[in-house]
Amino acid sequence: MSKLIIANWKSQKNIKEAGIWLDIIKAERDSFEEGVQVVVAPPYPLLPAVAEKAEEAGIEIAVQDISPFEAGSYTGAVSAYNLSGLSVKYAIVGHSERRLYFHETHADVARKVTQAIEHGITPVVCVDHDFVYEQAAVIDEEYLEQCIIAYEPAGAIGTGLNEDIGRVRRVSKRVRDAFGDDIRMLYGGSVTEENIGEYMLVTDGALVATASLKPEQFVKLVQAVK
Ligand code: PGA
Repeated sequence: MSKLIIANWKSQKNIKEAGIWLDIIKAERDSFEEGVQVVVAPPYPLLPAVAEKAEEAGIEIAVQDISPFEAGSYTGAVSAYNLSGLSVKYAIVGHSERRLYFHETHADVARKVTQAIEHGITPVVCVDHDFVYEQAAVIDEEYLEQCIIAYEPAGAIGTGLNEDIGRVRRVSKRVRDAFGDDIRMLYGGSVTEENIGEYMLVTDGALVATASLKPEQFVKLVQAVK
């Protein structure tokens, strides 16, 4: 199974910076280990420009959020239908910043999972260790194993305080118990080129924000994935 490394730009970068980032990744793609799949999650306005260059850069595309509703009268929301034709393969849902600043509930996240899957997009569901079961409980049972889970301890995000590897292993058992034995799990929270190797021993990839922003730094991080 390949390792998925998702670069989450959050609300950073403009279109010019996105182009530079993609050019550098494209130039370095042959130095990445086979079986390592790079994914980028740009801010929405940059999506068409990124989609145009993604294939030649050898990367896949994620969105950082998706509407819990079908296309319709939901001002400001971006529906899964809006994304057709833009090569979006994954949707990050329930990131801790969405839960904290936008007051998203487990039920909201579950509706986003449904929207993504019904439109052929794989949801990457972010969870912390203390609500793995609660989040799984409200997701449609038939969709549980179609999710990818990102274990993201809130205290590790953007702090430099990356999670203890033993703890990640324990949480991955809980995630399998809640979502299914074959579930793919990523780790996110202060992942760097120095520590990514150990997380790859116990997970299927990583969700990376801070260390994904500078393309040269991100290239080194991806090169460290074996
Ligand atoms: P970080 O963020 O890499 O800056 O710690 C991870 C995330 O928010 O997914």
